[in-house]
Amino acid sequence: MNDTLRIIEERVSLRRYSEKEIDKETLNQILYSAMRAPTAGNMMMYSIIVIRNQEMKDKLSVTCDDQPFIAKAPVVLLFVADMEKWHRYFKLSDMDAFEEKRGGTYSPPSKADMMLAVSDALIAAQTAVIAAESMGIGSCYIGDILENYEIHRELLNLPQYVLPIGMLTLGYYEENFKRNPRSRFDSKFIVFNEKYKNLTDEDIKEMFGEEEKKFVSNNRYGAENYGQMFYGRKNGSEFFKEMRRSVEEMLKNWKY
Ligand SMILES: Cc1cc2nc3c(=O)[nH]c(=O)nc-3n(C[C@H](O)[C@H](O)[C@H](O)COP(=O)(O)O)c2cc1C
Repeated sequence: MNDTLRIIEERVSLRRYSEKEIDKETLNQILYSAMRAPTAGNMMMYSIIVIRNQEMKDKLSVTCDDQPFIAKAPVVLLFVADMEKWHRYFKLSDMDAFEEKRGGTYSPPSKADMMLAVSDALIAAQTAVIAAESMGIGSCYIGDILENYEIHRELLNLPQYVLPIGMLTLGYYEENFKRNPRSRFDSKFIVFNEKYKNLTDEDIKEMFGEEEKKFVSNNRYGAENYGQMFYGRKNGSEFFKEMRRSVEEMLKNWKY
C-alpha cells in the first residue's frame, strides 16, 4: 500500500483534538491543496472561510445541531458554494448588452450552476481532508451547517449566490488516539458494472443484514428494527426537519 492509500485507509472522522495549534504555514498548505482540487471549467465556484475565532466557533457549535466538539477544534473551515463572484463579474462584463446583441437574455446563476458550485466546494473540501491527514491533522464534516440557513447567512455575511455547503473541523490527532475505522457496505451494493443495478428486496435486506444483526430492541426510539431506529435517529428526527426547511429556503433564495 502506498502512502496516499494508507492515509485514505487510516482516516477517521476526528471529534477530539490535541492541544496543538495548527500553525499558519500548515493551514496554508491545506488551503493550497484544496485550491489545487479539480474544479468545473476551472471556475472555482466556491470560497473557503477560515474560522479560528472562539466566539464564532461557539455559535456554530450550537447552530449546527449542538455539537460541542466544533467549539474545541482549533480551526473550522467552511466551504461555501459560490456563484456570487462570477455573477458579479458577468454583470461587470456587461452581459446584458452582450445577450441583447445576440437576441437573448443574461441567465443569472441557475440550479445547474448551483449543482456545479456544490460539487466544486465539496471536492475542494475533501482534498483539504486528505492534505490535512497527510500532516497528522484529523477532520470531521459538519453536515448540520445546512440547517439554520437564515442564521448562518447573517452570521457569516453570505450574499445571495453563496451557500454554506461543507464545514470541516480540523485538529491534530491526540497522542495514542486509537483509530477505530467504521465499516462500510459491501462493494457489491455500491459498485455496479456499466449500468445501474436495481437491487431486489432480498439484496436490500442483505445489504443491511450486518446492521440488523446488531440491532437491539430496547432502544430509545421504540423502533422494532434497524431501519426504524436509523430513521428515528436521523431522517425522521427534529434536526433533519430543520435541515429540510433550511435547504428549501436556500433553494428559494437562489432565484433564477
Ligand atoms: C456530508 C457529511 C456530513 C457529516 N456531518 C457530520 C456531523 O454533523 N457531525 C459528525 O459528528 N459527523 C458528521 N459526519 C461524519 C460521518 O458521521 C462519518 O464520515 C461517518 O460516520 C463515517 O465515519 P468515518 O468518517 O470515521 O469513516 C459527516 C460526514 C459527511 C460526509
